[in-house]
Amino acid sequence: MHSLQGKVDCWAKRTAGGMQCLPKEKERRVNYEQVFDSAIDRLHSEGRYRVFIDILRNKGAYPNARCFAGHNGPKPITVWCSNDYLAMGQHPKVIAAMEEALHDVGAGSGGTRNIGGNTHYHIDLETELADLHDKEAALLFTSGYVSNDATLSTLAKVLPGCVIFSDELNHASMIAGIRNSGAEKRVFRHNDVDHLEQLLAETDPACPKLIAFESVYSMDADIAPIHAICDLAEKYNALTYIDEVHAVGMYGARGGGISERDDAAHRIDIIEGTLGKAFGVMGGYIAADRRIIDVIRSYAPGFIFTTSLSPVLVAGVLAAVRHLKASSIEREAQGQAAALLKTLFADAGLPVMPSTTHIVPLMVGDPVRAKKVSDILLAEYGVYVQPINFPTVPRGTERLRFTPGPQHTPAMMTELTGALVEIWQRLDLERRKAA
Ligand SMILES: Cc1ncc(COP(=O)(O)O)c(C=O)c1O
Repeated sequence: MHSLQGKVDCWAKRTAGGMQCLPKEKERRVNYEQVFDSAIDRLHSEGRYRVFIDILRNKGAYPNARCFAGHNGPKPITVWCSNDYLAMGQHPKVIAAMEEALHDVGAGSGGTRNIGGNTHYHIDLETELADLHDKEAALLFTSGYVSNDATLSTLAKVLPGCVIFSDELNHASMIAGIRNSGAEKRVFRHNDVDHLEQLLAETDPACPKLIAFESVYSMDADIAPIHAICDLAEKYNALTYIDEVHAVGMYGARGGGISERDDAAHRIDIIEGTLGKAFGVMGGYIAADRRIIDVIRSYAPGFIFTTSLSPVLVAGVLAAVRHLKASSIEREAQGQAAALLKTLFADAGLPVMPSTTHIVPLMVGDPVRAKKVSDILLAEYGVYVQPINFPTVPRGTERLRFTPGPQHTPAMMTELTGALVEIWQRLDLERRKAA
């Protein structure tokens, strides 16, 4: 912090022509340390200061991992909150593909897609992803966040006067993209098609329109009414943009997401996904018709001005996407695990939230208590589940979000349920009547 204060002093000296500040001016100077400290203090006082847990996953033995926080040496833990939903990040085919690519072409891509970084792996993966969603083309980004931000902000700039209709629970990356587009935004109540229609009907029919929503909302574990939204898009001549980040790899016969499962992909203009969750590696993408992909490829700064994904990562994703197109074993095992965990929690009277998806959220409703439950689980039971706080979820709805995978066994789930019941009693948390 000395250097910061040094900068301030230096600036003060320069602007004062080398003279000492007068006491009054000194009083008015920004105290940077104080501003930063109070920003962090605010988080502490609200009980939502984030502590990152220091872990290493054990290759091939997921959900087993080692935790380095507050112990002498690593302590074995079970991970319950990973978005590597199907453990594809540990899959032998994925690891072999990455090793092979590393030894064949080296570590990085060496450039942006336009300048040296357009490897054959990237082209193959885009073809594979376009096919996954039955679209003409796809485009890779360095993350799902970047794909949402870059695409939404660019689309609305290319469509002057565009109005974007956004579900109120859309992810921060979509909100950032919409804000960065400078377009007018109209927020509709979560999954409320009547409200969406009202807003569409109020908008000038001559305006370009884009409806942006998610398929699986990962914190509430519910699913969008895709066909009803597409009906409205057709009626009011709007484009549709769906974030399938929590659904790709997970739903549909080939892992094409809810839009594949519900036979709606052909009705959606742009499908966005991540390569870092069910596909187990890293990166993001959109799939759409050739014209839209060409526009984003040509205009989006978040695509153009950044080093392309490492071919090693892309090779791993290629293996994961190809595997999950052909194999439903992982999806089915995950679905069974999620169903069992929901039943165990409900039978034990734990406040499991209604979920029609693979995600199992447990409501706590208070940031301090959510953190406390998570701390006890880790310290005493070797269970790792991160508390979810504002702004990821609204205040007062803080929760624990469990993501059981194909490798979480019934015995692990029974043990976890027992631990939670004990902690719920210890902290005097509210339980429902056990079923
Ligand atoms: C709905 C949604 N969209 C986009 C993202 C960003 O994806 P990525 O983690 O690949 O950046 C997330 C991340 O959790 C998400 O939940």
